[in-house]
Formats: sequence, C-alpha cells, structure tokens
Amino acid sequence: MPPSDTETPPESGRAPAAQTPSRSGGGDDREVIITCRDVTVRFGSKTILENLSMDVRRGEILGFVGASGTGKSVLLRTILGLNAKQSGTIEVFGIDYERASDEERLAVEQRWGVLFQQGALFSSLTVLENIQVPMREYLDISPKLMGELARLKIDLVGLAADAADKYPSELSGGMIKRAALARALALDPDIVFLDEPTSGLDPIGAADFDDLVMTLRDTLGLTVYQVTHDLDSLFRACDRIAVLGQKRVLVEGDIQTMLDSDDPWVRSYFHGKRARSIVTDEAEPADDVRPKAERSADGEA
Ligand SMILES: Nc1ncnc2c1ncn2[C@@H]1O[C@H](COP(=O)(O)OP(=O)(O)O)[C@@H](O)[C@H]1O
Ligand SMILES: [Mg+2]
Repeated sequence: MPPSDTETPPESGRAPAAQTPSRSGGGDDREVIITCRDVTVRFGSKTILENLSMDVRRGEILGFVGASGTGKSVLLRTILGLNAKQSGTIEVFGIDYERASDEERLAVEQRWGVLFQQGALFSSLTVLENIQVPMREYLDISPKLMGELARLKIDLVGLAADAADKYPSELSGGMIKRAALARALALDPDIVFLDEPTSGLDPIGAADFDDLVMTLRDTLGLTVYQVTHDLDSLFRACDRIAVLGQKRVLVEGDIQTMLDSDDPWVRSYFHGKRARSIVTDEAEPADDVRPKAERSADGEA
C-alpha cells in the first residue's frame, strides 16, 4: 500500500462507511470484513476456543468482552495468524491468512494495526521511532517522509508535537496508549485490534480514549475490534458487542441485546452494580434499557 496522504479520506470504500456510522447494532448490511467460522484453538490438551463463529463489519466498533482467561487475547492473536488453530476458517478481507500466498499476507498485514495488551511500545525507542517501526517493515519510503507521516499520526491521536521525541517512560499511561494507537495506525489500516486499550487508565483518560476511537471511526471509517473490560466504553462507544464464554461467542449484538440476554454471565455483567450506575447516569429518559422481562412487567410490549 502506498503511503497515502492521511489528511484526505483514504481510498477504497472507507469514506462511504464513514458517512453513516451507526449505533444500530443488529441487522445491518455493512460489509463483513472478518469472518470466523467454527474456530477451535487448543494448547496441548486444553481447549480454549471451540467452534467459535463471529463476524466483524466494516466501520463498526466491536467490543469484545468475557471473563478473564476465556481466550479473548487468544482469539485476537489467532485472527492475526500468531496462534495456530486446530480447525475452522478465518477470513480477513476475504483472504484466509493461513492459506494465503506471501504476497496476500503482506497485503493483509498492511490493512490491520494492532495494540497488544502487553508491551504497547518499545521502551528503547522514542514515540516517533516506535511509530516508524511498521513503516520501516512495510514501506519503501524516505526517512524524511517517514518522519512526516509519523508526525501526522502523532497529531491524529491528539498528542502534542513534542511527544515525538519522548521515550515511553516519560509519558503518562494515557499518552502511551495514544502513542501505541498512533503506531497501530502507521500504515493507514482499515481495521485496528485493540486489546484492553483503556485498562490502567483513570475514567477520564479512558473516556478520552473512547472519544478518540469514535472520532477515528467517524472520520476515517476505521473498523475497531476492541477487547475491553470497560463497561463505560461498552455502553458509550461500542456499536456492537460480542461476549466470549464457554469457548465460543455466547451473545452478539447491540447493548440492548446484552441487557435482554438471559445468559447468567451476561446478566450479571451488564446488570451488576457498576452497569446499573452507568445506565442510570447516561440513559436518555426515552431509552428504556431494562431487560424485556422487566419492561413487560410494567405492562409494556
Ligand atoms: N501460548 C499459549 N500457550 C498455552 N496457553 C495459553 C497460551 N496463550 C494463552 N493461553 C491460555 O489460554 C487461556 C486464555 O488466555 P487469554 O486469551 O490471554 O485470556 P483473556 O480472555 O483474559 O485475554 C488462558 O488459560 C491462558 O493461560
Ligand atoms: Mg487478554
């Protein structure tokens, strides 16, 4: 992929998706850009994922939740081709990474960016150098252009220009996440994978990060696959949510689908004390976000 001018809407269908960001959740006909079908992943005798299926659609923020240790990071790494799977198929942009030619793989790798749960940045490199790592790996461009592009990314994620020459140890937690996001955006990807990007941030820092991600979705048409434990983020920023449990995707849909689910884990998660406080603080009076059962108890349809 050539280094495009990041200030103009990038090529190939991203811009139209950006015009119609929607929080409609279910039943939308946007292009599916990732499909997982019957994916099984084992480590030794331990099965982590079994016959898992799900889709990711262009231009959405998909929130991926599940109890700790259920395999959220494993699934993400499997989609990225970093973990082997025992069976099933995964297609990203219509390409089965496992069966793809080197050329196809290279093309796919340039269309995704990743912010891993651990090790968001290389500690021995400045922010600017960190952002240039994927550029050096995939692009054949001059150091000067690489520097300019990296500075554009720094601006894009809301960091001050002087962050460029700082080392990770000189940055706050929120700045590190932004810098890591800038690196994930280095190649102008169509999709970014974010593994618990707001963990460790205070609520304001986390909300600011969510705002940034929503802005990128709306302006770039970016698709965001976000593993998160952050209920605020799920309620506020995610267009759709997938819940991992019992080695598969238990429930998939918008926030109302989560609130209506009668799966015990989903119920306790989305109706727990913290979730209730978010619903009470943020719901418009017209939005009745209680489960169907409770609404019909009031005589509503
Ligand atoms: N490379 C690996 N080898 C063996 N077991 C692993 C490996 N990676 C993850 N696991 C195991 O898979 C399970 C799911 O891990 P993980 O995906 O990190 O959970 P989480 O949902 O918290 O992200 C855990 O039991 C973990 O120990
Ligand atoms: Mg994890």
